[in-house]
Amino acid sequence: MIIAPSILSADFGNLQKSIEQVKEAKWLHVDVMDGHFVPNISIGPVVIKGLRGYTKQVLDTHLMISDPAKYLKEFINAGSDRITFHIEATNDPIGVINLIREYGAKVGISIKPNTDVGSILDLIPLIDQVLVMSVEPGFGGQAFMENSLDKIRTLDTLRRELNKDLLIVVDGGINDKTAVFCKDAGANVLVAGSYVFSSDNPQSRMESLK
Ligand code: DX5
Ligand code: ZN
Repeated sequence: MIIAPSILSADFGNLQKSIEQVKEAKWLHVDVMDGHFVPNISIGPVVIKGLRGYTKQVLDTHLMISDPAKYLKEFINAGSDRITFHIEATNDPIGVINLIREYGAKVGISIKPNTDVGSILDLIPLIDQVLVMSVEPGFGGQAFMENSLDKIRTLDTLRRELNKDLLIVVDGGINDKTAVFCKDAGANVLVAGSYVFSSDNPQSRMESLK
């Protein structure tokens, strides 16, 4: 199980210090919001470039933006290792997948809580990870939505049938209790923001999730 701290809940006044507190994490989850696809604005490629300057951790970039194809190159050049875009944000998912591959990053697709997992099943053979949103995207600190568990189970069954190395990532409302539900359903990566960074000791929160 990979625990990916979401820097959305870190201290943006001293990001380097926050990252230092979770230096044991293999992945850092980076939430990009454009104020259009979601009702919040967060960060862009310049911050990813800054992070890349002082960590070798995998930068797992979650694009909550409209028209993701337009910005892929900038995010990957800035240092994103993995790019996840939303199926709801594009009419040409295969085009977006191909561009991410061409620019040299791993590919993920995310689905919002009201999006059926059926909408991405045909794309699974083409990608590296699915990010199941277990809250409405846009903000940290919301409550976990249990309808995500059935989606995780469906994806877990499918990857067995396809014998495919697919990572199932869950994002939103992860804490020491909901983490167990997700693991039992088949998740491999848990994204956790407020649970990790609301503590004086983020490392101990990561260990409790593990
Ligand atoms: C929400 C983001 C999440 C967020 C999770 O739109 O995609 O990554 O940081 O925050 P918590 O863990 O607080 O629900
Ligand atoms: Zn996220």
